[in-house]
Amino acid sequence: MCGIAGIVALEDISARLVQSIRNLEYRGYDSCGIAMLNGSGKIKISKNIGSVEEVCEKENFGRLKGSVGIAHTRWATHGGVTKSNAHPHMSCDNGFSIAHNGIISNHEKLRTRLKNAGHRFRSTTDTEVIVHLVEDWHRKVKSVEKAFVAAMRELDGTYAVILVTGHEPDRIYCARNESPLLIGLGDYVNYIGSDLNAFIDHTKNAVFMEDKEYAIVTHDSCILKRISDGETMSRQVQELMWDSEMAQKGGFPHYMLKEIYEQPQVVHNALDIDPELVEGFARMALEKKTLHITGVGTTFYVSQIGQYYFSRYAGVTPMVISSDEFRFLAQVDKDTAIIAVSQSGETYDTLNALRYGKSHHATTGAIVNVMGSSMARMVDQMILQGSGPEICVISTKAALSQMIILARIAMAAGVMNGRITAKQARGYEAQLRELPAAIENVLNEKSGFIHTIAQQQSHIKHWLFLGRGRYYPVARESALKMKEVSYVHAEGMPSGFLKHGTIALIDENLNSVVFAPPEEEKELYKLTLSSAEEIRARDGYVLGLTFKQKKKEKLPFTEQIVLPKTPPFTAPFLQMVVAQLLSYFTATTLKRNIDRPRSLAKSVTVA
Ligand code: M6R
Repeated sequence: MCGIAGIVALEDISARLVQSIRNLEYRGYDSCGIAMLNGSGKIKISKNIGSVEEVCEKENFGRLKGSVGIAHTRWATHGGVTKSNAHPHMSCDNGFSIAHNGIISNHEKLRTRLKNAGHRFRSTTDTEVIVHLVEDWHRKVKSVEKAFVAAMRELDGTYAVILVTGHEPDRIYCARNESPLLIGLGDYVNYIGSDLNAFIDHTKNAVFMEDKEYAIVTHDSCILKRISDGETMSRQVQELMWDSEMAQKGGFPHYMLKEIYEQPQVVHNALDIDPELVEGFARMALEKKTLHITGVGTTFYVSQIGQYYFSRYAGVTPMVISSDEFRFLAQVDKDTAIIAVSQSGETYDTLNALRYGKSHHATTGAIVNVMGSSMARMVDQMILQGSGPEICVISTKAALSQMIILARIAMAAGVMNGRITAKQARGYEAQLRELPAAIENVLNEKSGFIHTIAQQQSHIKHWLFLGRGRYYPVARESALKMKEVSYVHAEGMPSGFLKHGTIALIDENLNSVVFAPPEEEKELYKLTLSSAEEIRARDGYVLGLTFKQKKKEKLPFTEQIVLPKTPPFTAPFLQMVVAQLLSYFTATTLKRNIDRPRSLAKSVTVA
């Protein structure tokens, strides 16, 4: 949700600190701020509402010089988007400053107590209680470390907290509970960040903090301790696999477009994942009586497509529950396997589903993109999808990669239980290997036409995305893309569902997109076309996503985007790329904020 950064060095860090929150901005972008310790041990704060670029200009961040500082970019949860609610927050005596990501659930109780003890609050955030709490404890125990730990022990809820203080101006204190935080180790300079983008420009060596731990970080040391008893924790330094270039726009106008165009490579990467890892997941899926696949938002739809591939190619139909609903629906015991799907590996709802599973003795696996993320570290088996940094808040390449990985696991399971032969599996894999070239072809040959359609239809306020079978989850995912990037209402549903109510909406104000399978999927093809006919019969506009036919026949579409002949195994993936472009171009026509749509955040780490 929010992005947190901190740097402890021996020389001026102002430019680096601003760059850190620029790199983290996709986590939240309604306001931001910096707290810097100057040489005399005084904390200077600068913050305001707006993007990092806007605030940097408004507040002239560059004037805050210092060698120890913290910074924050916010996605509001408690308290509106105002300058006073922007982080960092300051204690009454200006001796402590804090930035926070997460939600403090007992903030009201703490605030009342602190107010009664004479503390003056300047914001309406839950975060501000933390800084007053540390200050309060410090008055009593006269030690920053003891005060920090005592404060952390009083907090209920989730937090990644970072603190600077004039009492010990050479260090940063930080702590985490259920919100990500890691420490980057440099040469006489150390970094703290809510994810590796905070410091990947400077170091690839990182230490991942665990829940209920705190750290004391100076320019040349990093001590990790347990909050409960102060026990020192040892942790291996890990080498990060991404580099800063991967997180640049590389000539594209938006990260979203860049990431859409990276999909051929991302598919290659997904296909290069060690078959043993894939088989490990397949084994886990088959060994247990119940298999759940879970994710939320896009990864819920990814899970759904996994469900269809499992059903068709492995003869197993997993339960797919959106992770925010998991605890209220799933039946879990030691005979259950749970596969969680998450780009960030930090999404609160999906983490919570895994925690629930683990507490009920389930075996767990996760497909994640971010190395060292909470999910990656908590599961029994993990597949790192290797899609590279996905900076746009809208997920595109990560989702496609996850779909490919789930299709591979389903195939491996199918071979293991005899549903398909090894030869058939090799055939499907060969088709997957042709997908990158097919995507490239669509990107090169169809973008212009898709752009034109998007421009011509950009006045439309309502869209229906319709598909059957494996095309249904893709239709839902495509509707989500349209909503989140263009702010245009869109619904995805099975095309067969249409006539059971939604068809009443068909008129000139509502457009439909129909995901038609290749003609060799005979039944699916016929049924999907009949839905398109139902819409056309009511004078509705239908955009058909189709594949080249053997013989030309008149199809019931107003317009169509004809894709090259594609095997059914990979056809839904190719159509998804078309739908991504349709949403992208609709959003650019409507002049939306493509990479940072309103009200969204890349990684939703709160309940
Ligand atoms: O990081 P995750 O994949 O766990 O995130 C899950 C969802 O929050 C995410 O997919 C969200 O729906 C995106 N805005 C989709 O574009």
